[in-house]
Amino acid sequence: MIDSSDINHTRRNVLIGGALSATATVLPAMAQGPSPDGGHAAPATTPPPVTTKVALRVNGQRYEMDLDTRTTVLDMLREHMRLTGTKKGCDQGQCGACTVIVDGRRINSCLSLAVMHEGADITTIEGLGAPGKLHPMQAAFVKHDGYQCGYCTPGQICSSVAALDELKRGIPSHVSADLTAQPLLSPTELRERMSGNICRCGAYSNIIDAITEVAGVKGAA
Ligand code: FES
Ligand code: FES
Repeated sequence: MIDSSDINHTRRNVLIGGALSATATVLPAMAQGPSPDGGHAAPATTPPPVTTKVALRVNGQRYEMDLDTRTTVLDMLREHMRLTGTKKGCDQGQCGACTVIVDGRRINSCLSLAVMHEGADITTIEGLGAPGKLHPMQAAFVKHDGYQCGYCTPGQICSSVAALDELKRGIPSHVSADLTAQPLLSPTELRERMSGNICRCGAYSNIIDAITEVAGVKGAA
């Protein structure tokens, strides 16, 4: 028969055994042994990042840089070019705050590596307009109060400029019922086209008003 003191003893042995085996696992990594001069050997060093040359244009200006091949377009813009108008929200393709226009198409810059865009032409919010010389979409956002905190706004504006360009080129959206209708613009159309841009402040109706005004289509909002 096993009494409770035996059980405790057994459990204690198991715990001690477990602790020892965990220590044994960790020790080899720490115990690299003394170096020839009697000190401890230096820990293994992290290999340097792999870099490559990237040349492209941003807002009409040519840039050529050595970049870590893992650098996203978003980090290239913000960290290497100091173009901080493009915002980092989720950094995983969910919010649209990082939207920029690359060769005429909008992309989530957090999801795309800079090395994939050698020779590309990128437009960011800074390239659309400037204080005193706003892009019509920027002016419409101001007029219709299409923002509150403003964090999503650069992405919303880049996205809406590119979305209207898609309309001009007759590119249908996922909710286009009639692919031959021109223009392909309705409240549902517009909302679907802008559905990749999230606004935590919920300024959606004002954003749609602004885009509709620039699109020049009455009754779309
Ligand atoms: Fe790129 Fe959110 S930061 S989608
Ligand atoms: Fe605040 Fe859109 S204005 S998140």
